[in-house]
Amino acid sequence: MRKLIRETRLSPDQLIMPYFVKEGRGVKEPIQGMPGQFRYSVDQLIPELESLQGSGVSAIMLFGIPESKDERGSAAYDRNGVVQYALRAIKDKFPEILLIADTCLCEYTSHGHCGIVRHRRDEIEIDNDASLELLAKTAVSQAEAGADMVAPSDMMDGRIGAIRNALDRTEFSHIPIMSYAAKYASAFYGPFRDAAESRPQFGDRKSYQMDFANSREALREIALDIDEGADIVIVKPALAYLDIIQMAHAQFDVPIAAYSVSGEYSMIRAAASSGSVNEEDLIWEMAVAIRRSGADILITYFAKEIARKLQASGSLKQLAK
Ligand code: PBG
Repeated sequence: MRKLIRETRLSPDQLIMPYFVKEGRGVKEPIQGMPGQFRYSVDQLIPELESLQGSGVSAIMLFGIPESKDERGSAAYDRNGVVQYALRAIKDKFPEILLIADTCLCEYTSHGHCGIVRHRRDEIEIDNDASLELLAKTAVSQAEAGADMVAPSDMMDGRIGAIRNALDRTEFSHIPIMSYAAKYASAFYGPFRDAAESRPQFGDRKSYQMDFANSREALREIALDIDEGADIVIVKPALAYLDIIQMAHAQFDVPIAAYSVSGEYSMIRAAASSGSVNEEDLIWEMAVAIRRSGADILITYFAKEIARKLQASGSLKQLAK
């Protein structure tokens, strides 16, 4: 009976698994704060992707950790950059995996900000408009390297339009954009910034990421991005933002993705290691809750665990518990 009247279903087809890629060979470094997650060199990522495919997940998102960083984040749009290299290698070996490239500068800039900075009087500020050109260049170079979709996470104003134009002007008018449209300035990104070595060296991201006290502003951000050409929009983080996901789903007719971020992953791992909760049940409940709130797509570091559970128990049987 529970199965018959169940309102929320989940499939491995709706999951996206994020990965951190590093230059070099033979690298598989555990990420502190995210037990079970690693920074991989491409050769080490290959067996991991085989195991991911075995679980039924076929979409991944790549974050790059370059060897060297500079003020303008030039490794982000380098033809031979770490992500470009990884995209080419993975596309070649796994043509059936949907390859999504995170488009941002923060992993590549020496100052760790998502845009480039300029000095004005005594102040350092983000140069929104000058960053757009570099983000667009990054997106085009990712598409050139084999990305099937780009996912701008920088939160500069106008970047979706700039990236859409740049893709259309080159040969990539068919490449869709999944925009981090409602991205909050969140403490939940802590473990990611360690993983990607992208902690801002000064200031914070509050001049471009949203205030978590606001919800209507998220709808405005999403509407702007859709207007500029976003095909899928992301709400991020997920767990503490189910109201935003629900509003976005009710108001817009594009697919809504929810990004369950690094801090959410760490929180569950930490709670489970205390022995006081059942980890598998917690992962499952959280995933279903995010879907229930209206997310069509779930970006999560638990993608493999969730898919395995679906596989092991013949789709949704486990919910009958
Ligand atoms: C880069 C970016 C961040 C995340 C995804 N893309 C970090 C940030 O904005 O500081 C966070 C993802 C996570 O925490 O899992 N702009």
